[in-house]
Amino acid sequence: MAGKVTVVGAGFYGSTTAQRIAEYNIVDTVVLTDILDGKAEGLALDMNQSRSIEGFETKIVGQTTTVEGGGYEAIAGSDVVIITAGLPRKPGMSRMDLIETNAKIVRGVAENIAKHAPNAVIIVVSNPLDEMTALTQLASGFPKERVLGQAGMLDTARFTHFVAEELKVPVASVQTLTLGSHGDTMVPVPSRCTVDGKPLADLLPAEKIEELVVRTRNGGAEVVALLKTGSAYYAPSAAAARMAKAVIEDSDAVMPVCAWVDGEYGIEGVYLGVEAQIGKGGVKKVVETKLTDSELTELKAASVAVREKQADVAGL
Ligand code: LAC
Repeated sequence: MAGKVTVVGAGFYGSTTAQRIAEYNIVDTVVLTDILDGKAEGLALDMNQSRSIEGFETKIVGQTTTVEGGGYEAIAGSDVVIITAGLPRKPGMSRMDLIETNAKIVRGVAENIAKHAPNAVIIVVSNPLDEMTALTQLASGFPKERVLGQAGMLDTARFTHFVAEELKVPVASVQTLTLGSHGDTMVPVPSRCTVDGKPLADLLPAEKIEELVVRTRNGGAEVVALLKTGSAYYAPSAAAARMAKAVIEDSDAVMPVCAWVDGEYGIEGVYLGVEAQIGKGGVKKVVETKLTDSELTELKAASVAVREKQADVAGL
């Protein structure tokens, strides 16, 4: 076993991500950092004490960091760094309402990662996702394929769950796909949705599919409204941990992620939700899937909206 993964931010999202990766038992070390004094150390101690029960050898190292970069030496040599730092939504907020606050936090984190783990692949999960991913690439100066964002795995998993519940079938029999942004311009792709290989459109009326699409698009907000403080983390951390695993294992898994798109689908220069082949070094290739004309139109519209916001974020 070799390798090191860092998770920046020890909130619920960060800590569940760290624990999941440790439980995979695929790396020597998972570093968990936070700016709250002692929080990461305390959680790491607790997680390490679960090792003999769950049967994994990965060690979790907790490290308090400062905004100025104190404590970041602990992340040196990381193969993957996952940025969860930033505020989550409150009920009624859109992910975009977090943009100014989280841009400041994420920019600082990205600069510290560039200094201390210059060869890492960075996986961004902070919101608004597509914008924070673009900002991280700018602030770190990393090659674009080494910075990617988590969203499509989560949105797709939510869509799959809703379809499975609706049809009362096992989730394993359901395949769905969402592309575009992790927000209002999320593009569910019904033409790529199947249940036991049968097209979803043959199993559910169009209005029902649309209802599930809308619920998927609002999937994060639905959880936030119920929790009242904080946002979802079980499904989000499962998605982020799987992406890190694909990098560590150089698996070449094709996953829906937020990746740099430049030419694919006729879309130029933007971080956008697409399917991509993930392995050592990050995104090896954006994989174009066959879309219907209306799905392609929606994806292009999403790219325009997201590109505009990503341009704004460069100045934050
Ligand atoms: C969600 C947040 C994490 O979709 O973006 O739940």
